Amino acid sequence: MKRRRVAILISGRGSNMAALIQAAAAEDFPAEIALVISNRADAVGLEKARAAGIKTCTIESRPFGSDRLAFEAVLEQALKDNRIDLICLAGFMRLFSSEFVQRWYGRMLNIHPSLLPSFPGLDPHGQALRAGVKISGATVHFVVPQTDAGPIVMQAAVAVSADDTADTLEARVLAIEHRIYPSALRLLASGRLRLEGGICRLEGGNGSGEVLVSPAAPDALPTKEPTTAQGASGEGT
Ligand code: GRF
Repeated sequence: MKRRRVAILISGRGSNMAALIQAAAAEDFPAEIALVISNRADAVGLEKARAAGIKTCTIESRPFGSDRLAFEAVLEQALKDNRIDLICLAGFMRLFSSEFVQRWYGRMLNIHPSLLPSFPGLDPHGQALRAGVKISGATVHFVVPQTDAGPIVMQAAVAVSADDTADTLEARVLAIEHRIYPSALRLLASGRLRLEGGICRLEGGNGSGEVLVSPAAPDALPTKEPTTAQGASGEGT
């Protein structure tokens, strides 16, 4: 098996990075984490990567100011020097030019802590709580020029409780991020994903048919068709 060479890009604590590194340590994982790149020298994740024996590199973005292309030229060189096939963004807090994104389209993943397309951008957990959703979650998607958008590879959901704060919701969502990001990378690296007009398909189908319901109510989901006709007036859909 030829393992795909992955660069993980971080700016901070790197817990998703650590989950990817741990998963890729398995012999049958189809990707190896060849490089961790941070755009901040003080990113805590850098130390975690080094401790795991992963090569790291810092490309400070601040000195480049708004000159994205100049920053990306240096980044691109590091990716080339390390023969990188795939990129995983993991809390990387810098926007890319559309040129860079298009060059890596289909080869660059991101993770966002909401069920996209709901709540892109900053404070997704606060947005979810303010909207009163009963289920939130995390999304791994291919990167496109728009922020927190792009073909969805994998999502996982958690129930939102009445007493959740942004912090408690964040902690529960982060735990499922750590589960789905390695799974999504496994699918991409093993060549099982196909992009079809902005939709990501999984070879062989993915029909788990699972149903997630929140709040849990015994009668929330009828197990069989109701015996009396409902909505006979023709209302509703
Ligand atoms: C995660 O919640 C991720 O979804 C978002 O940024 C956060 C990064 O956390 N894009 P970590 O650095 O992986 O711990």
